Amino acid sequence: MSAAAILSPEPAPIVACTVSRDVSNFDLLIEDMETELGESWGDLTFEDAVVFLNQPDSETLEFIAIAVDSDDEGDLGRISGIITSAKEKGIRVILIAEEVSPIALHQLLRLGADDFVPYPLPEGALHEAIERLGQSDIETDLPDEPAARPSVKSAGGRDGVVLPVHGLSGGAGATTFAVNLAWELANPEQSKKNPVTPPRVCLLDFDFQFGSASTYLDLPRRDIVFEMLQDTAHMDAESFNQALLSFNDRLQVLTAPPEMLPLDIVAGEDIARIVDMARTQFDFVVIDMPSTVVSWTETVLSAAHLYFALIELDMRSAQNTLRMIRALKAENLPAEKLRYVLNRAPKFTDLNGKARVKRLAESLDISLEVLLSDCGRVVTQANDHGLPLALSAAKAPLRKEIQKLAQSITELNRAAEAATA
Ligand SMILES: Nc1ncnc2c1ncn2[C@@H]1O[C@H](COP(=O)(O)OP(=O)(O)OP(=O)(O)O)[C@@H](O)[C@H]1O
Ligand SMILES: [Mg+2]
Repeated sequence: MSAAAILSPEPAPIVACTVSRDVSNFDLLIEDMETELGESWGDLTFEDAVVFLNQPDSETLEFIAIAVDSDDEGDLGRISGIITSAKEKGIRVILIAEEVSPIALHQLLRLGADDFVPYPLPEGALHEAIERLGQSDIETDLPDEPAARPSVKSAGGRDGVVLPVHGLSGGAGATTFAVNLAWELANPEQSKKNPVTPPRVCLLDFDFQFGSASTYLDLPRRDIVFEMLQDTAHMDAESFNQALLSFNDRLQVLTAPPEMLPLDIVAGEDIARIVDMARTQFDFVVIDMPSTVVSWTETVLSAAHLYFALIELDMRSAQNTLRMIRALKAENLPAEKLRYVLNRAPKFTDLNGKARVKRLAESLDISLEVLLSDCGRVVTQANDHGLPLALSAAKAPLRKEIQKLAQSITELNRAAEAATA
């Protein structure tokens, strides 16, 4: 249906409109709007929308679905204006976004878009978003305080892979590994022939006391994280996204809060909510865990697809690994999810060292598939400068090893997705 048709409505009352630069770029949206609303919807360009929303006719609209892609980022001013006019008239706004930068997305959501769905639209996502608008109708007269706003839980429609990283002894290199793994996952190698869309990746720093992901990425620690942790029951997609910080527009990071917090400030249910929220919005969720085992370690382990355990070639790591395995088995927890990563592994040429690695694996009855090189000062320097190795010491063996691991995780994930598609 064209804009003209909306401006002089046909008998079927128009209850909703798509608003976009060119709706033909959003075929799936057209299909879903037809399924949901039959003939009673129309489409508007941004220009049309500005005019139409100032006419009395627009008052019959229940919602508009604003579809934007990366080419629209230069037009944010006008799009923001459309959201504001719609809200003034009590028209609900669903934002459909394809490849829009998180900053632009935050800006649009902050203006009061009621819901957000990524494009291409996941199966049933528009239907669910419309249902959520319906459910929250009763709340439309409430003041616009955060607590009164409808909770938009699984707005992202993704189903991310959860990859926690746990150092089994302090300083084993867990945070360095987590930060660099997240960065490599977010930046897959591109070939000209076969360009790939980078996945959406987030890094959650759950080491609420000494969390150093923010240091290693030079990001500030903010009170908003503490506020979110204290009240996860009222967390919605918007408040979750506001607690994240973007590193180089590619990686979203939940840093540790500014003050040292007791690790039990959060309970299993808080952690479950945060991980669930992250999973719906991101393709990969990397979690930096505290090396202490806490009440919610189990929650993270059960959400995990793979759980990386960082160790070193010393007695301390060996004994801690044994304790960890015993504790998990005693509680009937899935120890098989653990993937052991040996950091500061002996060099390839160090035959004596290699024999020790073999003995360690045998005595613990684990396999050591991932061995990471000791790269000396260059790693600490990269961390101190707040940069992933890829951006500061791209040729360091440690970077190449983590990059290779990220590639194989990405490939495994693609194969698994293809198998279930
Ligand atoms: N493969 C490596 N080669 C050289 N230095 C490394 C390597 N891995 C980690 N480091 C350095 O070791 C120190 C500890 O690393 P990191 O903070 O990643 O460990 P952690 O397990 O997270 O520690 P914590 O127990 O404090 O959380 C850092 O200074 C880091 O730069
Ligand atoms: Mg750490």
